[in-house]
Amino acid sequence: MAAREMKPGVYWVGANHWDRRLFDELIPLPDGTTYNAYVIKGSERTTLVDSVDPEKEDELIENLQSIGIERIDYMISNHAEQDHSGGIPRVLETFPDAKVVTNLKCKTMLMDHLLIPDEKFIVVNDKDTLSLGDRTLEFVIAPWVHWPETMLTYLREDKILFPCDLFGSHLATSDMYAVDEARIYETAKRYYAEIMMPFRHIIQKHLKTLEEYNISMIAPSHGPIHNRPKFILDAYRDWTSDTVKNEVILPYVSMHGSTEKMVKHFTDALIKRGITVKPFNLTKTDIGELAIALVDAATIVIATPTVLVGPHPVAVYATYLANALRPKTKYASIIGSYGWGGKMPEQISSMLGNLKVELVKPVIIKGHPKDGDLVALDELADAILQKHHECQLL
Ligand code: FEO
Repeated sequence: MAAREMKPGVYWVGANHWDRRLFDELIPLPDGTTYNAYVIKGSERTTLVDSVDPEKEDELIENLQSIGIERIDYMISNHAEQDHSGGIPRVLETFPDAKVVTNLKCKTMLMDHLLIPDEKFIVVNDKDTLSLGDRTLEFVIAPWVHWPETMLTYLREDKILFPCDLFGSHLATSDMYAVDEARIYETAKRYYAEIMMPFRHIIQKHLKTLEEYNISMIAPSHGPIHNRPKFILDAYRDWTSDTVKNEVILPYVSMHGSTEKMVKHFTDALIKRGITVKPFNLTKTDIGELAIALVDAATIVIATPTVLVGPHPVAVYATYLANALRPKTKYASIIGSYGWGGKMPEQISSMLGNLKVELVKPVIIKGHPKDGDLVALDELADAILQKHHECQLL
């Protein structure tokens, strides 16, 4: 996609990756993604903010040539991950006078991963500035969004924040700006859930830091640019807050129908009690949808049969993922059936150590659910209702 001017002398020069469907061999990309890179022309020096994934570096170089860039003085690296820094060696090869500007930790990682030599770097610290002549860059060291070396770059005169992954969304689009906010809300929430949620508390602090800055535009390194920054800042304040919703997330798998029957009864029991419930059949669901649902929910209930004395492997995967993503969930429980015995509930609960949840008494039954088992599920729904009342969610 061709380079585009955002403000006089400030350009988007990145690349869309329309058909990428998996990131890190882990994260589904139903909408593709973008690798946004930006050029800032100052009266004396020219800067490139982040590069692109090496697979798209030809597009980056073509975009730079298309706007007449013959010299780059500074190559800002906000984040060492390949999709933003993997194109830096090509940029340095094409523009041999360019220096890589980054913080010390990111420098170390770029030297380790991309073999960039020491003399190519200018190291900056928190609040350091860099003059381009009539424009000034300020650096905000903001670790753990989502790697330890991340930083944000602020262009003072134009009030543009370049936060790399933070506030981004995996979305290939011809829209330069986040005009379709309903759609961007979903893609940005998916991105937050999959990438940023484990660092919720530290992002709360970074949001506080950003209150000191007058920001007219947020230009992340994935997805469209936010020319109405309040939209994404408000969304992040909500997602990272401690507030949960009156929702139960119900990832499940069933082998012979017993656990599925429990899930159906339990779903109806929750709905009758005024609780929003989101069941996810783990053999069919997009795991990103499950991650999105975990952002706000008060409760997670994992439903699985017993296989070889433990949980079904897809339930293990979902539980591991939920634990790794560290949502703000307050309560957890387990339902499921077994044939002759096992330690399924103990194994599931032992995998939830990262979550600060209170375990509500599980309902584990033998074989097909009987009337008494359905009553036990109703009682579990009552117990969750009580917990949600205690949190004033109803
Ligand atoms: Fe988009 Fe953490 O890289």
